[in-house]
Amino acid sequence: MSVPKSQYLSSAWAEGIFANRVLFITGGAGSIGSAQTRALVHLGADACIIGRNVEKTEAAAREIAKVRSGARVLGIGGVDVRNYESLKAAADRCVKELGSIDYVVAGAAGNFIAPISALSPNAFKTVIEIDTIGTFNTVKATIPYLIESASRNPNPSPSGQTGGRFVSVSATFHYTGMPLQSHVSAAKAAIDSLMGSVAIEYGPFGVTANTIAPGAIAGTEGMERLASSQHTRDEHTRQIPSGRWGNVRDIADATVYLFSDAGNYVNGTNLVVDGAGWRRQGGL
Ligand code: HXC
Repeated sequence: MSVPKSQYLSSAWAEGIFANRVLFITGGAGSIGSAQTRALVHLGADACIIGRNVEKTEAAAREIAKVRSGARVLGIGGVDVRNYESLKAAADRCVKELGSIDYVVAGAAGNFIAPISALSPNAFKTVIEIDTIGTFNTVKATIPYLIESASRNPNPSPSGQTGGRFVSVSATFHYTGMPLQSHVSAAKAAIDSLMGSVAIEYGPFGVTANTIAPGAIAGTEGMERLASSQHTRDEHTRQIPSGRWGNVRDIADATVYLFSDAGNYVNGTNLVVDGAGWRRQGGL
């Protein structure tokens, strides 16, 4: 069954803005990642989805390819972002089969709820390895291709077409601290810092690097883990000034913005998409 466009993309964007461009995304089979990929593919891009689970990754690629006739969507499963070599091989294969990497989303993440007292050193390390080191590995495996893409697509470009852009999916927990999420907070703080360094080191090559920090996003594995009861979900909603949870389309639209001609001068920043929720998180 196909997913209605309105579930992953607003009507604000023009068809074809990402034509002849390729997205490389880790965690692209997840709820947020597949909405980001659908949006870019809908707007003309081809895509390479990276995931640990082979079946899930390949099935997601087949589904996403249906959003646009002629779209090429490659699912490369069996890749753990903690393993640099397999990620590098996936990036090389993506370029070999699809021709380039113009946009990268580092979306793979790991999470569970636990107080520090219940976190073993290995549990803490596991989330740092998936989130932070996984993002570093993604940067390292793809940055030569993003530099090439940026050199073909000057920023700003007269044609309005873009390339050489990196987005990491972060969070807002570390802005205030968050109980039961010390591991994720530490990992995401490091990701924000890393993206700042990428922006500074590779901005002169025309590359941009930003994070998107989602708030509570409905229908995601993360929120199922973080707010499994109706009571917790109601409490979360009550704290959000915009009065609702976000949806995957909110995150897909932010991604399109950062990768589009509209995002040319946005570099090294954290785009919070959370209905101002973080300003009240932790306080009722
Ligand atoms: C305490 C736990 C735990 C739990 C695992 N561990 N679950 N500790 N409470 N609930 C510990 C284990 O005991 C082990 O430590 C260590 O963590 C590694 O566990 P493994 O199962 O061996 O790791 P692995 O197979 O690599 O799995 C990684 C994982 C898993 C993170 C634990 O949940 C996973 O693969 N998740 C991927 C999908 C996911 O999490 N999606 C949600 C992302 S949402 P010991 O000491 O026993 O060896 C997200 C959103 C954040 O990131 C922000 C939202 C706004």
